[in-house]
Amino acid sequence: MSKIFRALRITEDESGKFHRNIIERNIDDLPDGEVLIKIHYAALNFKDALSSTGNKGVTKNYPHTPGIDGAGVVVESKNNDFKEGDEVLVTSYDLGMNTDGAFAGYIRVPSAWVVKLPSGLSLKESMIIGTAGLTAGIGLYKLEMMGQSPDQGSVAVSGASGGVGSMAVGMLAKAGYQVIASSGKENADEFLKNLGASEVVDRDFINDDSSRPLIKPKWAGAIDTVGGNTLATLLKGCKPGGSVGSCGLVGSPNLSTTVFPFIINGINLLGLDSANFPMKERQKVWNKLASVWKLNNLESVATICTLDELDSYITGMLKGEVKGRVVVEMEL
Ligand SMILES: NC(=O)c1ccc[n+]([C@@H]2O[C@H](COP(=O)([O-])OP(=O)(O)OC[C@H]3O[C@@H](n4cnc5c(N)ncnc54)[C@H](OP(=O)(O)O)[C@@H]3O)[C@@H](O)[C@H]2O)c1
Repeated sequence: MSKIFRALRITEDESGKFHRNIIERNIDDLPDGEVLIKIHYAALNFKDALSSTGNKGVTKNYPHTPGIDGAGVVVESKNNDFKEGDEVLVTSYDLGMNTDGAFAGYIRVPSAWVVKLPSGLSLKESMIIGTAGLTAGIGLYKLEMMGQSPDQGSVAVSGASGGVGSMAVGMLAKAGYQVIASSGKENADEFLKNLGASEVVDRDFINDDSSRPLIKPKWAGAIDTVGGNTLATLLKGCKPGGSVGSCGLVGSPNLSTTVFPFIINGINLLGLDSANFPMKERQKVWNKLASVWKLNNLESVATICTLDELDSYITGMLKGEVKGRVVVEMEL
């Protein structure tokens, strides 16, 4: 086995500027961990885009290799749960944040982060889903834990054409929900309808600028990737008893609301954190992602690129231009 592999490496120069390069690395330089995995596919997430530009809220120390999602084959394992040749995936925990990530030929990680590839998914499909799909899945899982069901009415999804958003739209539709997909992209209508959205609306539909604490209910639940006034609107426009899952901040990390959605309408605000979602429940959600929630047209959500082509998608993601999921096919 060659010990040399290619990896995206982010470096910081003396003036504090960050640079992205593909370099050669040695397996011996990877961090400690029980499981060494040869990466076949990785996927791009918003956090990776931030880490790739030197965002110290995501990655404290550079040089660094981003990539919070990786899928591949076990090459070495010091843990009996995994053996050479097993197909596995790793999403989130600290992968790609302060641990060298999956935009590389190999990763070495603690066994507690590793999920066996669920039956019903290929390695490539698992990365089309990736952290974005897991997060959307956690959203649906938590909504349903609070009693959400399709007969209560539509579920709204913000940032719908993005990674989490598109997976949420497809998954909710597959689970039988009417989906209101909100997008700022003029050309996202067909893409979102093909995923199963029953209605595609402009971002302004979920951006109430009145100062009213409650507005006429327009959805029975929601999954929000935007934050800020979008999240505040989703709360005040939700039907009584509904739930709103919050996972993102592409619009703003702030939330200005009153308590009225909670104390008058009984709305539940649900936090969605995929990074530390417990392994037992994570496996349950992955099994649903591989079966009852698996999108019929999963491949249509993905753009496939090579490690060398990834740079332009990182730039596009930071501008909010990426549609669906970007999956990196590694050289084997
Ligand atoms: N909590 C978690 O565990 C978790 C996991 C994964 C991601 N996230 C977070 O979820 C968010 C989305 O991640 P992603 O991977 O889906 O990113 P993404 O693929 O870049 O999608 C974000 C989408 O949001 C919309 N958008 C972008 N800028 C906006 C703005 N200024 N105002 C309103 N909408 C805007 C765009 O969709 P439209 O053009 O269709 O509106 C864009 O495609 C990020 O904040 C990410 O950090 C959290």
